[in-house]
Amino acid sequence: MSEGASATFHDMSQSTQQDWDAIMSQNIPFARNGGRRVLDHLKLLNGDFGGFAIDRLQHSLQTATRAYRDGRPEDYVVMALLHDIGDTLGAYNHPDIAAAILKPFVSEELHWIVEHHGIFQGYNFFHFLGLDRNMRDKFRGHQYYEATAEFIDKYDCPAFDPNYDTAPLEFFEPMVMKFFEYPKNSIYKRETVTEAA
Ligand SMILES: [Fe+2]
Ligand SMILES: [Fe+2]
Repeated sequence: MSEGASATFHDMSQSTQQDWDAIMSQNIPFARNGGRRVLDHLKLLNGDFGGFAIDRLQHSLQTATRAYRDGRPEDYVVMALLHDIGDTLGAYNHPDIAAAILKPFVSEELHWIVEHHGIFQGYNFFHFLGLDRNMRDKFRGHQYYEATAEFIDKYDCPAFDPNYDTAPLEFFEPMVMKFFEYPKNSIYKRETVTEAA
């Protein structure tokens, strides 16, 4: 990452156009390769069983495989693949981690689904933990309620089956790399998209 020109300022308030041209010449290809870093982080879930019948990477792959085989578009499948990527960093708010990573690249609906999937999945087990399994009810009537419940019912909830024919990570790699090349929404969008032309 250190090849090419570098900025010379030691105080950002003193930065110049030349500095930022140098920085962006490196930042743009770095940002565009974000899928590689996301995939590397997803691999941290490998071998992390956490008491479940399959590890968290297999659960992620199986959720995505089920969505893919059900005919979901690629952005949905990537959302499904990454919905639990925050398990390593956010033990108490893992959906927020995935939601933040996906936010520049997905629709409002897919972002809402991944952000709220934890509460919706809770319907299947919160009562075993002394929690309210109907916590999701506070969102009843929300325009994305049914879509989120469907994600849980069809893909996330049943994806703990060690006998399911789950696709390997390599199957999803090309779509993840493509997915993270260009943001739909970002305060940095002008710079990144201008260079893409
Ligand atoms: Fe989750
Ligand atoms: Fe999950």
